[in-house]
Amino acid sequence: MDAKKLAGEKAVEFVKNDMIIGLGTGSTVYWTILKIGELAKQGLNIKGVPTSKQTEQLANELGIPLVTLSSIHQIDLTIDGADEANPEFELIKGGGGALLREKMVASISKRLVIVMDETKYVAKLGGFPLPVEITQFGWEMTSRQISALGCEPLLRQKDSIPYITDNGNYILDCHFDEIKDAHKLNQALNMIPGVVENGLFVNMADTMVIGKKDGNVDILYK
Ligand code: A5P
Repeated sequence: MDAKKLAGEKAVEFVKNDMIIGLGTGSTVYWTILKIGELAKQGLNIKGVPTSKQTEQLANELGIPLVTLSSIHQIDLTIDGADEANPEFELIKGGGGALLREKMVASISKRLVIVMDETKYVAKLGGFPLPVEITQFGWEMTSRQISALGCEPLLRQKDSIPYITDNGNYILDCHFDEIKDAHKLNQALNMIPGVVENGLFVNMADTMVIGKKDGNVDILYK
């Protein structure tokens, strides 16, 4: 059983007519977006707000009508993946590099539904390195300041050169052994000049749809 597909497809149940929907990024929400594309073809009236260029392209291919953040004030529902989630509904996101747009979209969403497989549901965050988007300018300085918070930051590479986000920035993957206070760390990181945004999503998600390899799907509500 493909647990990501199960979770991604199940989450479509939250989509209703006339909604503005935040479309997340990644291999789990991919399945949600495919289903939303089918519903749009069948006549469901929805508008999507993509969280990455990759998702924008997919939505365009599927014929999902899109709007930009500039033209709206609120999103009814966002469905997105995560790299880790704990029982407090705190998340690490950004493994796919889209954390800034994902967080901006989530911040104006009335509801954030997270789709993932069961391996990502953990007691404590930090096993997955925390992605932090930073400016290219002075990145070594920013990296040193972040490491003072108790982690080892590594500049993300793609094809042996630094990975560049959709927003023209770098990403540091920050290895914390365990994140004890996600709320505090989220604030401390965003106080560092040069940090654009970090992948901790605190007080944002309210629903988790967890696909399991035995074929079941758990839905958790905050
Ligand atoms: C994108 O930047 C991420 O936040 C993704 O949402 C997250 O990495 C989950 O991706 P998968 O569903 O591909 O595991």
